Amino acid sequence: MGNTIDTIFSRRSVREFTKEDVSDDAITTILECGRWAPSGLNNQPWKFVVIREQDGIHKLADCTRYTKTVLSANVLIAVYFDNETSYNKTKDIQAIGAAVQNMLLACEELGLGAVWLGEILNQQEDVDFILKAPENAELMAVIAIGHPVEKARSSSRKDLEDIVFREKFGTKW
Ligand SMILES: Cc1cc2nc3c(=O)[nH]c(=O)nc-3n(C[C@H](O)[C@H](O)[C@H](O)COP(=O)(O)O)c2cc1C
Repeated sequence: MGNTIDTIFSRRSVREFTKEDVSDDAITTILECGRWAPSGLNNQPWKFVVIREQDGIHKLADCTRYTKTVLSANVLIAVYFDNETSYNKTKDIQAIGAAVQNMLLACEELGLGAVWLGEILNQQEDVDFILKAPENAELMAVIAIGHPVEKARSSSRKDLEDIVFREKFGTKW
């Protein structure tokens, strides 16, 4: 098992994948990590749809500007909010974010690449139609997964001092 903190720091969004298959075991591990995310009242307000068939991948590739990334992925996981199990939409959506991050970290630790696709929500209705989503399911994200094309990937973050306020109660942020 890897070290969670190292995995958090080393994970980068991966948008180009090789043709190598992602194993069934790896997909199960990724889904298990999503399933074990925390949720308010432990209501687990998510559904995960796994898309591996080329036909499905091609159809979903037409629903986003990230066509190339989706086409190169070996597997897609569409993450849905399940309205039936909802108790507080804000908290439910936060829990779904935790589930997505768990899955991204699992990918990183398994040596796979992944990217959280949110832009595809612009064509949510088309995705719902393709995946035959039930009335009570709302698309939250699609995760594109595959073996990463090896290349340097960098990212940046705001400095801690710009986002963290330690014991500055009463002073302006
Ligand atoms: C809610 C959300 C939506 C995102 N949507 C997209 C997307 O549609 N396409 C994409 O290529 N990356 C998307 N990303 C990935 C971000 O661009 C990426 O996480 C950010 O630039 C930081 O880079 P890093 O993940 O490599 O650290 C999304 C990330 C989040 C959290």
